Amino acid sequence: MKALILVGGFGTRLRPLTLSVPKPLVEFANKPMILHQIEALKAIGVTEVVLAINYQPEVMLNFLKEFETKVGIKITCSQETEPLGTAGPLALARDKLIDKSGEPFFVLNSDVISEYPLKEMIEFHKSHGGEASIMVTKVDEPSKYGVVVMEESTGQVDKFVEKPKIFVGNKINAGIYLLNPSVLDRIELRPTSIEKEVFPKIAAEKKLYAMVLPGFWMDIGQPRDYITGLRLYLDSLRKKSSTKLAAGSHIVGNVLVDETAQIGEGCLIGPDVAIGPGCVVEAGVRLSRCTVMRGVRIKKHACISSSIIGWHSTVGQWARVENMTILGEDVHVCDEIYSNGGVVLPHKEIKSSILKPEIVM
Ligand code: GDD
Ligand code: MG
Repeated sequence: MKALILVGGFGTRLRPLTLSVPKPLVEFANKPMILHQIEALKAIGVTEVVLAINYQPEVMLNFLKEFETKVGIKITCSQETEPLGTAGPLALARDKLIDKSGEPFFVLNSDVISEYPLKEMIEFHKSHGGEASIMVTKVDEPSKYGVVVMEESTGQVDKFVEKPKIFVGNKINAGIYLLNPSVLDRIELRPTSIEKEVFPKIAAEKKLYAMVLPGFWMDIGQPRDYITGLRLYLDSLRKKSSTKLAAGSHIVGNVLVDETAQIGEGCLIGPDVAIGPGCVVEAGVRLSRCTVMRGVRIKKHACISSSIIGWHSTVGQWARVENMTILGEDVHVCDEIYSNGGVVLPHKEIKSSILKPEIVM
């Protein structure tokens, strides 16, 4: 079986992290986002993953070469010379997706995180006999997604409306599809949207089916959702394999600590924290609801909450970093600084406090 992951887009909503690496390579729970997906695909028998890319393909491929052998899956690249949207890339990769078996193939948005119930999806797809299956999930704010109106009992989709201006329902497209090869005959090789141009048509012909995704789901392409997504992911990890989570009197709730990270005396860490490889967390530090990427140093008695600390950054002694502060790669926050929602571009030194949410260039 084959799969295509849509990895285009500049990831602007996840800047400044995406100024250093393409969005799919930004770590989530100590692992590049895209690896969560590739591993899930591999686990259900996918043998080849096609990455639909429109920028920085070298960076992605160099990185993923190493994982091809480690994960034991073939990873190839289908490169666009202009952004082809969410459907055009399927037309471009047509030859890679079709094989003699006529099997359906998976298509994934690269920024969604879930338990990837792909086995269940294959069963569902076989059972309805339609042309395409999509996963849906319920959200409180459907307007920023593709909304799906479906028949509850059969899953048959009546309507698919991308980013609706008025309320049509609260079940939304989770960005995980299983498509028959015939769907490719509906897509032209030009910039085009699967959500706006392809799904509505298949739905009108009553050949689009939706399955409600069991378990959690999040589009982690924006900082706030990334942090919420980590909470949901760690909750789910607690239920499935709790031994991967940190334990001890200095830990509160669900915390993931890379084995190469060092944690000093008298820290209090959690809930919902991920600490990456090579990090040094000095004594008396307080961390909650945050991600600390590879190689970060957090000095004594600093306090970080609801924030993301980019690779190789430093947070000074007694600093207080909170409220969706996002530090890019190699940022240095001096001692005793306060950051309230600062979004800091890579390689900056922060010598005075950031009192209200703002971008620091
Ligand atoms: N190759 C390629 N080329 N990929 C692209 C392009 C492109 O031109 N444009 C976007 N993508 C990729 C993105 O990298 C992402 O993985 C996926 O297509 C969806 O694009 P987003 O920009 O993240 O869209 P969205 O989050 O606003 O909406 C989509 O995802 C929602 C779920 O998170 C839609 O599919 C919605 O219907 C859906 O509800
Ligand atoms: Mg998205």
